[in-house]
Amino acid sequence: MSQAPDHTLSSLFVTEVYRADLTDMPDFQTFLEELDDTCRAIADEDEAGQNWSQQKAYLGYTSYGSLNDLPMRASIFEDLKMHLDAHALRFAEALEYDVSGGDLKLDNLWINILEPYGTHSGHIHPHSLISGTFYVHIPDGASALKFEDPRLTSFMNTPPRKAGARRDHQPFVYEAPTAGTLLMWESWLRHEVPINLSEDVRISVSFNYSW
Ligand SMILES: [Fe+2]
Repeated sequence: MSQAPDHTLSSLFVTEVYRADLTDMPDFQTFLEELDDTCRAIADEDEAGQNWSQQKAYLGYTSYGSLNDLPMRASIFEDLKMHLDAHALRFAEALEYDVSGGDLKLDNLWINILEPYGTHSGHIHPHSLISGTFYVHIPDGASALKFEDPRLTSFMNTPPRKAGARRDHQPFVYEAPTAGTLLMWESWLRHEVPINLSEDVRISVSFNYSW
């Protein structure tokens, strides 16, 4: 007769990261190629964005500081938005957010083309609820996304975790995307893009939802 366990463990204040694979959607390859081409074309044309990226020492191009109307500029971003809206709603439901008092809406969407050896240091996305990234072009060696335990500053006398500790016990967690991966997290969760060790650009589209 097996003995009843003498204790229970509860997971409290859980941090959840949402991952979806959009490669199963109809005509995914056509969608991805058009999105890839459009990101590169906009990057080539957008001088304000090129200048902004240079001023901010972003190795590559981002439209973050220059364009806030991508779905109006190119219908492929409108298609992407349709998918993002559906997934953001699913994530909000999984988090059991009651957003009935507001309107969950995409309020920022931007292109990132990160050159080899480019990085994006640790940051959060203020004034937003849900943030995320859709991955367009992820060559071999391209950076994963690194998440940081939001309680790090409270770990005053905490020992390091054992080698091989469970993923949800690690202070830093890496999510390695492939083309077609969608990642979402709560906007307060600090994250970074470590150095891009690929010899090719890494292309993604990031976004914020507010309510
Ligand atoms: Fe970010």
